[in-house]
Amino acid sequence: MTDSLLDALARALQADPRNGTLWLHYAEMLAQAGRGDDTLAALRKAVELEGVRTQAARKLVALLREKGQYAEALIRAEAELARGEDATLRAELALIELLRGTPPSIPPTPAAPPSAPKAPNRGEAGARPAPRSSAGRENPREEPGAAQIDPDDTDPTAWAAQFDWGDLRITFRDVAGLDEAKRQVQLRILAPFRNPQIFEAYKREGGGGILMYGPPGCGKTFLARATAGELGARFVSVSIHDVIDKYWGESEKLVHELFEHARRNRPTVLFFDEFDALGSSRRADSPQFLRMMVDQILQEMDGVGGRNRDILLMAATNTPWNVDTAFRRPGRFDRVLFVPPPDDAARLALLERHLRKLPGGAKLDLRPAMKRTEHFSAADLRGLCERASEGPLERALEGGALSDITQKDLEAALTATRSSILEWFATARNYVRFSNQGGQYDDLAAYLKAARLG
Ligand SMILES: Nc1ncnc2c1ncn2[C@@H]1O[C@H](COP(=O)(O)OP(=O)(O)OP(=O)(O)O)[C@@H](O)[C@H]1O
Ligand SMILES: [Mg+2]
Repeated sequence: MTDSLLDALARALQADPRNGTLWLHYAEMLAQAGRGDDTLAALRKAVELEGVRTQAARKLVALLREKGQYAEALIRAEAELARGEDATLRAELALIELLRGTPPSIPPTPAAPPSAPKAPNRGEAGARPAPRSSAGRENPREEPGAAQIDPDDTDPTAWAAQFDWGDLRITFRDVAGLDEAKRQVQLRILAPFRNPQIFEAYKREGGGGILMYGPPGCGKTFLARATAGELGARFVSVSIHDVIDKYWGESEKLVHELFEHARRNRPTVLFFDEFDALGSSRRADSPQFLRMMVDQILQEMDGVGGRNRDILLMAATNTPWNVDTAFRRPGRFDRVLFVPPPDDAARLALLERHLRKLPGGAKLDLRPAMKRTEHFSAADLRGLCERASEGPLERALEGGALSDITQKDLEAALTATRSSILEWFATARNYVRFSNQGGQYDDLAAYLKAARLG
């Protein structure tokens, strides 16, 4: 990292101090240059900026934690969580509290489950936090005692409710683009669920499932939530981070119970989000409990004697190349599905969704913005639209009356915003080139080529 590059970035930021993406990039470069305190300062700026707030908060909290600045880390994490749930920050919070040696502040479960083994580094098992779905929404069905691992003596539906999405209103109609991904989910997940007779006729034996992968912010979790919306309550969503964090030392038992629950309530979709958290976990140097958890998942997936016949599996990851190849065997995640960034039509739809509702939004010409946002993630587009709305908002606050969003506001936002996923594609390209022997990244390879990224 050359100082001149850092200087150039600093100058760019002086000219455009509200460019959150640029602040994040600057912070990243500072981190690479080993300038920890400056990285913190840059991230503190970035968390003030709407479009990148959550992303910056995650990085800031993690860095503060690494530096042992727990008080600020906690305050920052809690402040961000108060604005909206976030699985990563929720996990950070628990980790920081663990490191500080204090009990978690997330509401404890009232009763210690009789059969749950004691979490070795958590103090009393009863003090374990109630896990939440990775969607992080408050779940109205969450019952006291929901963190019990053993669902046998309780209502199993209530027990599993803690892993369900709280909001089942999102459906496929809300998912812009992703036609092929939707088609696959439709075929592999929804159709068998809706047509059990056909499912039965083909004597599907093994479980098998879909592993979704792709750059961040392009809709893997969103698509899973929409699948849940399509299916209703028979969708159990498990954030691997949550499991690792909250069920440290007893995660194999939890995994077993999740599969058992799905077997008892057939058909059920089990969705494992943030699958990357398992890492290359069967490597000799990975923590033993992670390896045990992976082995347990593999064992459950194999389910002898058609026990998994009606369990539908989905998982999501940013880094499929780190997912243990054992997960790819037939009957396991045998369909690997690329979830691409939004195409032209999807970007236009997303821009319309975000901007049309604003004062003056109906008059905007969104096609230029659609053209200039190739390679933007859905999350980037949302950031762009938030930024474009800052101008009219400021004018309205200053003038005391609503101010229309203009083409110029949109133009300014476009100039100041960049795609956050190009780096992911740079990494992905290497894997496509060097480790696509089995053809598992063919759809990614085709995308790279079509998008001129390969
Ligand atoms: N295809 C889409 N249609 C509509 N909104 C989308 C779409 N994709 C993403 N979004 C919006 O962007 C947000 C981020 O997407 P999501 O969390 O699903 O990304 P992800 O692929 O799971 O990212 P990560 O790899 O970081 O977990 C969603 O909450 C949703 O609001
Ligand atoms: Mg996700």
